[in-house]
Amino acid sequence: MRVILLGAPGSGKGTQAEALVKRYGMVHISTGDLLRAEAAAGTSLGLQAKAIMEAGGLVSDEIVLGIIEHHLTVVEVETGFLLDGFPRTLPQAEGLDALLGRLGLPLDIVLLLEADYGEVTKRLLARRRADDTEQAIRKRLEVYAAQTVPLIDYYQRKGKLRTIKGVGKVEEISERIYEVLDTLR
Ligand code: AP5
Repeated sequence: MRVILLGAPGSGKGTQAEALVKRYGMVHISTGDLLRAEAAAGTSLGLQAKAIMEAGGLVSDEIVLGIIEHHLTVVEVETGFLLDGFPRTLPQAEGLDALLGRLGLPLDIVLLLEADYGEVTKRLLARRRADDTEQAIRKRLEVYAAQTVPLIDYYQRKGKLRTIKGVGKVEEISERIYEVLDTLR
């Protein structure tokens, strides 16, 4: 199964990814987690990314596409993948299409987790990650609206998009997603 999880910061992508990986066994690829690991390891890429992430901006498309290419080329065809937090811009989505075309791994579905900005802000303020300050959250939501929301239309036009109500208990949301993904198995 080859899946993209799309949604605003705090919409629950990482939380739902955990449940989906347990149920379906695909490889979870979170660009946010990978960038935070680079930052924690103190690599030059990580240090560059750290400042951008803490301010709520986006790391460059070239860097992120490079990371994704590195990880997707080792994914087994049968295992599939779950992309979380990627793509986030139109150039990233186009780059991903080209890469998946080269690798012969067509995308099955894009799940949009829908939760309003008030709800996601409340969740992020309660979590307190380094980029969960009021100012960085405001910036992340602005960036999401300007650069990532256009992907909804992009995948809708390709007939790949399914919207999932991302509010309620974590388990209820997982069930909504299973209903959709079980039909793909
Ligand atoms: P990334 O790590 O991808 O962060 P994000 O998209 O801002 O998403 P979050 O991890 O904050 O939220 P989530 O949707 O995963 O929700 P979660 O499950 O954690 O990216 C961070 C930064 O890295 C970016 O800002 C950018 O700088 C850089 N970056 C990453 N990818 C990039 C890319 N492709 N291009 C360029 N730059 C990139 O849940 C959030 C909280 O809510 C948790 O505390 C959780 O417990 C809680 N929660 C979850 N579900 C529920 C629920 N149903 N009810 C109540 N609380 C809930």
